[in-house]
Amino acid sequence: ARLVILLSGRGSNMLALLEATKTGVLHGLAEVVVVFSNKPDAFGLEAAAALGCPIASLPSQGRKREAYDADAVALLQQYQPDLVVLAGYMRILSPAFIQPFAGRIINIHPADTHQHQGLHAYEWAFENKLPETKITVHLVDEGLDTGPILAQQTVDLRGADTLQEVERRGLAVEHELYARALAELINHGRHAERSEASLPH
Ligand code: GRF
Repeated sequence: ARLVILLSGRGSNMLALLEATKTGVLHGLAEVVVVFSNKPDAFGLEAAAALGCPIASLPSQGRKREAYDADAVALLQQYQPDLVVLAGYMRILSPAFIQPFAGRIINIHPADTHQHQGLHAYEWAFENKLPETKITVHLVDEGLDTGPILAQQTVDLRGADTLQEVERRGLAVEHELYARALAELINHGRHAERSEASLPH
């Protein structure tokens, strides 16, 4: 499958997915055909380029959402993606983006999307002293973190007494879960079983 990865920042999920296509669960199943950003100076874009991955960007600052999304779609369609993979892409997608790729846009959210939507999910888990949280991989629809869930995995937060530790544990699960969920989706289609497991750490 041809993956395009969209990011706005650090890119640690992008790096984990790229690695998985080379030596992990996505090897022989998927290739990253471009890493795209709405932020031309995103760290993740540089990191992808440094690994020889094609990159593209289109600055979103000051643009109206629908017009920007139509331009982004036109750019991305040149890469003929099978799946559009959001990895810290900090924009809400308009119908102009969602419709052309309907059912083929995937996101990772660092909480159970039934419990917490939007930004600051690790802060939410930390401030509420949750003993565990869930990472969710889901299909993107027109709501904010509302689409059908493809996979979830629990993160044990007991004893995690700083926000940094909560994030460290969560990201470790994100990096493993995202590649596995995409592999299942590519192998079995949309009706992949939901997976639920705890990682030891
Ligand atoms: C991750 O926590 C992801 O779940 C959320 O945004 C963050 C992106 O981090 N959607 P990174 O850029 O992949 O390091």
